Amino acid sequence: MSFDAKIPQGALITGASRGIGRAVALTLAQQGIPVALVARSHPDLVAVQTEIKDLGGRAEVYPIDLSDLPALPQRLQSLLADFGPCDVLVNNAGMAYVGPLATLSLSDWQRVIDLNLTAAFLCAQAVLPGMRQRRFGTIVNVVSIAGKRAFPDWGVYCASKFGLMGFSQALAEEERQHGIRVTSLCPGSVDTPIWDTDTVAVRFDRSKMLSAEWVADLIAYIVRLPSGAVVEDLTLMPTAGIL
Ligand SMILES: NC(=O)c1ccc[n+]([C@@H]2O[C@H](COP(=O)([O-])OP(=O)(O)OC[C@H]3O[C@@H](n4cnc5c(N)ncnc54)[C@H](OP(=O)(O)O)[C@@H]3O)[C@@H](O)[C@H]2O)c1
Repeated sequence: MSFDAKIPQGALITGASRGIGRAVALTLAQQGIPVALVARSHPDLVAVQTEIKDLGGRAEVYPIDLSDLPALPQRLQSLLADFGPCDVLVNNAGMAYVGPLATLSLSDWQRVIDLNLTAAFLCAQAVLPGMRQRRFGTIVNVVSIAGKRAFPDWGVYCASKFGLMGFSQALAEEERQHGIRVTSLCPGSVDTPIWDTDTVAVRFDRSKMLSAEWVADLIAYIVRLPSGAVVEDLTLMPTAGIL
């Protein structure tokens, strides 16, 4: 039996305006894969699109709030109709949240679960019919080491990422028969703007973290593997360990 290393026709990347998602978009586009960029901030998406166009790649921007769950399926259908086939989905958009579970409000709990878990489920549902039809597709779910290990004060983040891990593993088992590969990627700390967001009130030594480009290179490798191989579950840690 021989397996090809087909070039995907397109990649949908969520959270593509900065951090890991931006690095993934640049890396895949440099490898000749057209990219559909999703995040909330239109100017930030356009900045990434401009970088990609300057490199000779194709990128389209789709400002979508992935937390608006009732509207999301329709927005994703419109995106796919406009952009064309997506053989790759990188479920990357997410937020971190630091605070004890004992005093966490229901609305903050829901906010993290909606974005980190439920939006990833809806994005996968949107691309699956096309991938099944083509019998070709790779879904990379950007989980976290917090999807495998629990950390105090990271309760809702851990809950969302353990949930994403379970979703990702079950999806892999369901879709294998349709020629679709699903990867659960669990990075340790990555030096991105997530550490400057207002729901993360902790300071770590960012010089010891992974770089977003290293994570992006790994995702590009996973996406470009011949169809006879799948990376099911991968943990990438900074050499310094948990920071
Ligand atoms: N950095 C780390 O140490 C680390 C480690 C392990 C796993 N991860 C995971 O990696 C993923 C990316 O993290 P990052 O560090 O690159 O984060 P980041 O720098 O904060 O970037 C987050 C991205 O998600 C987008 N986003 C946030 N809320 C959104 C919403 N409601 N709708 C649409 N897009 C939204 C942001 O753009 P807008 O604000 O414009 O919407 C941005 O493009 C996350 O899932 C995170 O949990 C990160």
